[in-house]
Amino acid sequence: MGKRWALIAATLVALVVAVSCYDEEGGRWEGGEEGGTGWREGEDWFLLQDSKHVVRTDAGDMRVVSGFGGRFMKSPMHIGFITMEPKTLFIPQYLDSSLILFVRRGEGRVGHIYKDELVERRLRMGDIYRIEAGSAFYLINPEEGQRLHIVCSIDTSQSLGFQTFQPFYIAGGMYPSSVLAGFDHLTLATAFNVTEAELGEMLTRQMNGPIVYLSNTHSPSIWSKFLDMEQNQKLAHMRRIVRIREDDLKAEEEQPTWSFRKFLPSIFKRKEGKGGKTGKGPDAYNIYDRKPDFQNNYGWSTALDESDYSPLKHDDIGVYLVNLTAGSMMAPHINPRAIEYGIVLRGAGTIQIVYPNGSLAMNAKVTEGNVFWIPRYFPFCQIASRTGPFEFFGFTTSARNNRPQFLVGANSLLHKLRGPEFAAAFGLSEGRLNEIINAQRESTILPSATVAPPEEAAQVKLHREEVANVMSRFGNEMVMGFD
Ligand SMILES: *[C@@H]1O[C@H](CO)[C@@H](O)[C@H](O)[C@H]1NC(C)=O
Ligand SMILES: *[C@@H]1O[C@H](CO)[C@@H](O)[C@H](O)[C@H]1NC(C)=O
Ligand SMILES: *[C@@H]1O[C@H](CO)[C@@H](O)[C@H](O)[C@H]1NC(C)=O
Repeated sequence: MGKRWALIAATLVALVVAVSCYDEEGGRWEGGEEGGTGWREGEDWFLLQDSKHVVRTDAGDMRVVSGFGGRFMKSPMHIGFITMEPKTLFIPQYLDSSLILFVRRGEGRVGHIYKDELVERRLRMGDIYRIEAGSAFYLINPEEGQRLHIVCSIDTSQSLGFQTFQPFYIAGGMYPSSVLAGFDHLTLATAFNVTEAELGEMLTRQMNGPIVYLSNTHSPSIWSKFLDMEQNQKLAHMRRIVRIREDDLKAEEEQPTWSFRKFLPSIFKRKEGKGGKTGKGPDAYNIYDRKPDFQNNYGWSTALDESDYSPLKHDDIGVYLVNLTAGSMMAPHINPRAIEYGIVLRGAGTIQIVYPNGSLAMNAKVTEGNVFWIPRYFPFCQIASRTGPFEFFGFTTSARNNRPQFLVGANSLLHKLRGPEFAAAFGLSEGRLNEIINAQRESTILPSATVAPPEEAAQVKLHREEVANVMSRFGNEMVMGFD
């Protein structure tokens, strides 16, 4: 009894908060000062379509789909898509945002500075790997025959600018230019203990952009050399960058302090361990190796949080993956704590989102590569098209305690709330309400009525009328918004 009221109270609080937040904004969330991305209320608000190429070279590209900012999302999450051709390198850089990488296809290697050491990891399809804001990193596609596709979250909560993210290329030349180039050349030459001419050589060669081929017959890449370096040299190189980064961030007001001692490479032995591991640091986590958290005949879903993969705790971001069979649906549910971002990996489907006031906010078809987002508290469901499986992957802004609450199905909130008071709230007898909510025996992932066998379909139809009737009596009930 007590538990039930607590749930009712929590649901009402969530709804009231959602409704009042919304009204405060006059039914409109502003994109923020710089965020005038021109969204209008309605479907296109939930489908993220503002996509820009931030890198495009012969050797690969990176496209970023911007999330919305505003009062309720001070630091929106952006979604990045990185494609690297075979035998290429994304040159060392650091970002003012943290990244969570997901290897969609192909294999690669990531190197980055973790606790002052260079950590290199082999990445394969399905791997999740986090790179901290400000940590210098590079990506390599060492394979001969296959492209590397990475989808990543870009968490801007530590970014310098408002809702943007900024790469700082450590290495570089004419294009991209290295952050090092900004320093006074004599200072820098002294710091590196090289002549200004040597420094000039280092800072002007690179002109192929941030993603480069490792072996270019016309101009042997300086990067091939970088990758052939011994681990300790590579570390020294990366360290130099990191030290300079630390100083660079302070450089606006203060004169950077240089210490030769800091630049001296520490000697540590190259130890390429099992599975392509070098250096101490977290491993990648493969989401496909994991047993699904939920599975039935209609599909499966899995969600990772910090208890599964500890690096997620730093940003408090969760990762999930859902695979629905043709014609199935993820039952209507809400995220009580998190904003959810979704990326369609395979197939096609429909996303339905409902406003807190119980009207349909979006009913949009999505296909591979589309990005959508769901505000916290908003009820929503995903439905696979009848032509094939529908696979989507994404990020939630809370790795902790975001237990999605289902509104329909055998595990729904309606079951937990059931009782005379709840039935009275629908204007029904307890028995009748039970009949209705017990009709669906599956939970979480449901067969869609449209593909159900004929007898069952007729029964479902009857219930639809009944449900409509119930919902209209309940007034503003949020479930009403669904089609
Ligand atoms: C519900 O809220 C949305 C968004 O503010 C608005 O467009 C819609 O007209 C409202 N519907 C009802 C039935 O109040
Ligand atoms: C700078 O280089 C010179 C010769 O190349 C070397 O003798 C000297 O020790 C170096 N200084 C530092 C601080 O590394
Ligand atoms: C998703 O499910 C389909 C069958 O419905 C299957 O063919 C496919 O391999 C699954 N995807 C993954 C990543 O397991």
